Amino acid sequence: MLRTVQATRYVLPLREGGSLPAIVEASDLGMYVVKFRGAGQGIRSLLAELIAGEIGRAIGLRVPELVFIEIDPVLGRNEPDYEIRQLLKASTGLNLALDYLPGSVTFDPAARDTVSKEEASLLVWFDAYTQNVDRTARNANLLVWHKKLYPIDHGAALFFHHDWPSRESKIDAPFPQIESHILLPWAAEIPAVGREACAKLTPAILEEILHQVPEEWLEASAADSTGESPAERRSGYLDFLVRRLNAAHIFEQEAIDARTRIV
Ligand SMILES: Nc1ncnc2c1ncn2[C@@H]1O[C@H](COP(=O)(O)OP(=O)(O)O)[C@@H](O)[C@H]1O
Ligand SMILES: [Mg+2]
Repeated sequence: MLRTVQATRYVLPLREGGSLPAIVEASDLGMYVVKFRGAGQGIRSLLAELIAGEIGRAIGLRVPELVFIEIDPVLGRNEPDYEIRQLLKASTGLNLALDYLPGSVTFDPAARDTVSKEEASLLVWFDAYTQNVDRTARNANLLVWHKKLYPIDHGAALFFHHDWPSRESKIDAPFPQIESHILLPWAAEIPAVGREACAKLTPAILEEILHQVPEEWLEASAADSTGESPAERRSGYLDFLVRRLNAAHIFEQEAIDARTRIV
């Protein structure tokens, strides 16, 4: 279960990404990177961050701890920066945050960062399963901290939810974007790690993850769609994720083929 904390101090914006996440101190004195619900990417990126992030954790990836973080309207009142003030105002209520890893750096093969073939394969498999396009050389979203890899930023995953009525056709679709995955060259064990990951992602585990998604986020995410209830939305995600596992051989083969073209 995700913990819930209260934001107590806006510390620093992280300007490198597009969504203006920030380092924020919370009621437990922890430092977190907050993904704001009021950011341009909208509530679906928080849903993706939560669902994909917890799936990653369930299969053994080192996703930093995710927490719900409550933002009070007074938090940003004295921020000198207009854009930040507006963002905080638009994000009143429940947001998502991840544990801040101080001193981490972005994974960079040019700086001779390396990764085992098992871990690379698992990350490739995970991103193909969750349809995450944001793990490229230009935008790795992979932190190195104490010599270990931490995947972050899953807000672009589950892109089927931007075109909800078409999700049926995406379940057994390959994921050709996997060809630009930063770890693809190392991913020599896709079938083996895929088998293990599928065994870990039981319907009960996936259901437990979906169960944690706040009703209000599901409602907001369906606002411009075909009017499903939060419950329908929740079971739609679950159905997609369970059935996509049964079709894993399709996206696995796509990744294996993409890799043979580059190594
Ligand atoms: N948990 C974290 N610990 C340390 N730095 C982080 C963490 N999360 C994000 N960052 C830094 O902030 C940047 C932007 O965060 P990210 O989640 O990728 O948001 P965006 O959607 O803007 O790309 C990252 O590239 C990374 O440098
Ligand atoms: Mg990013």
